[in-house]
Amino acid sequence: MTRATWRTRVGFVLAAVGSAVGLGNIWRFPWLTAQNGGGAFLLLYLLVVVLVGVPGLLGEMVIGRRSGRNPVGAFGTLGGDRWRPLGGLALFASVVVLSFYSVVGGWILRYTVASATGAYFPAPQEYFAAIDYGVGAAGFHALFLLATAAVVYVGVDRGIEVATTVMVPGIVLMLGGLAVWAGTLDGATGGYEFYLSLDLAYLRANFFDVLGAAAGQALFTLSVGAGAMLTYASYLGEDRSLAADGTLIAGLNTGIGVLAGLVIFPLLFSLGVDPGAGGPGALFISLAGAFASLPYSRLVGIAFFGVVLLAALSSSISIYEVLVSYLVDEHGASRGGATAAVGTLFLVTGTGAALSPSLFTLLADTIANLALTAGLLGFLLFDGWVLGRLALEEYELGAGRIATLAGRPWFVAIAVILPLFLAFTFVTGIGGVVG
Ligand code: PHE
Ligand code: NA
Repeated sequence: MTRATWRTRVGFVLAAVGSAVGLGNIWRFPWLTAQNGGGAFLLLYLLVVVLVGVPGLLGEMVIGRRSGRNPVGAFGTLGGDRWRPLGGLALFASVVVLSFYSVVGGWILRYTVASATGAYFPAPQEYFAAIDYGVGAAGFHALFLLATAAVVYVGVDRGIEVATTVMVPGIVLMLGGLAVWAGTLDGATGGYEFYLSLDLAYLRANFFDVLGAAAGQALFTLSVGAGAMLTYASYLGEDRSLAADGTLIAGLNTGIGVLAGLVIFPLLFSLGVDPGAGGPGALFISLAGAFASLPYSRLVGIAFFGVVLLAALSSSISIYEVLVSYLVDEHGASRGGATAAVGTLFLVTGTGAALSPSLFTLLADTIANLALTAGLLGFLLFDGWVLGRLALEEYELGAGRIATLAGRPWFVAIAVILPLFLAFTFVTGIGGVVG
């Protein structure tokens, strides 16, 4: 059987943007920003996206397109069998990320439904506390997983490409509308000020903590380190420039992320909510509570949680596809069989995270960052020291003039500078866990 390919360049770019834009932009980013001093975090985060995220994304995509395989097959074909465990690390990171991601996806699904009935309006805090972990959470997680599986099952071009081509423009339009509306709320200005303020004293005092958080978030938001972008790039033909596509993907993700901030921060501030307080449920509790006091609260709730749901789904399918492509490429599974097997695995791991708050937090706060960092570190060392000249060749394929000029600096960055940086954040990340 011939391997699937994207039908159009736009289709590939939108699928990759769909992977990137997700809970990372809407749910994880606001509380990280709030915890790390507002605009100071935003600034460092943007810097890390440009200096580490984009070259790292290209380093990951190079491996996918060169090999035309899933992560395990990619490292095996390009580097020999002893490199296959590096692909295994990517599979592991994918399992870690989707196991908690689909639990949050389940929360969002539930909030979308509950917006229509108004169930959470009277007591938002109690509502979240009643649904956050447990059998109900496991059930909604399973529904979210099922929706993810359905898209993946249909296939790369007819399922993922078609779905994301509709979803991503929908996300942008709805976020744009919500941002305009949020700007009309009383007190919105306080939100903008916080979001865009630059507290340099805070940054100076907490530089390494803020840097570590910004680095983890930059990888997470670009879907880098778990093999999702590697896998998506493996379905690409040779006729386009990875440098151009990768830069476009990162640019769109950042733009949409900033747009999400323009929705969230004015909303939170107009209602006097502290975005940093109260763990992973903070966003749900505060926004759900906020919506209750607004006119057309049900509509606002459906629009907001609906857009988050689309963003989450277009990301979860990219992680799910990593494992499906592995089973199809390496074990000759049918797409249907692979989709079912992967679903069963995630049903188990996700149910664990849905039942156990401590497992959820361990995965979401700690292991995900470490696994993505280790994954990308491995990918880039492989590019620099195993593929070498071939990685640069792959980068230069179809690249325009400017991208070609940037090729050598890019190669030095991914072979030497970024690995040092990633090793440093990995070690300080472990130190943060142990210490
Ligand atoms: N980028 C996604 C988000 O921000 C999450 C993700 C991480 C997806 C890693 C794939 C791989 O929501
Ligand atoms: Na997404």
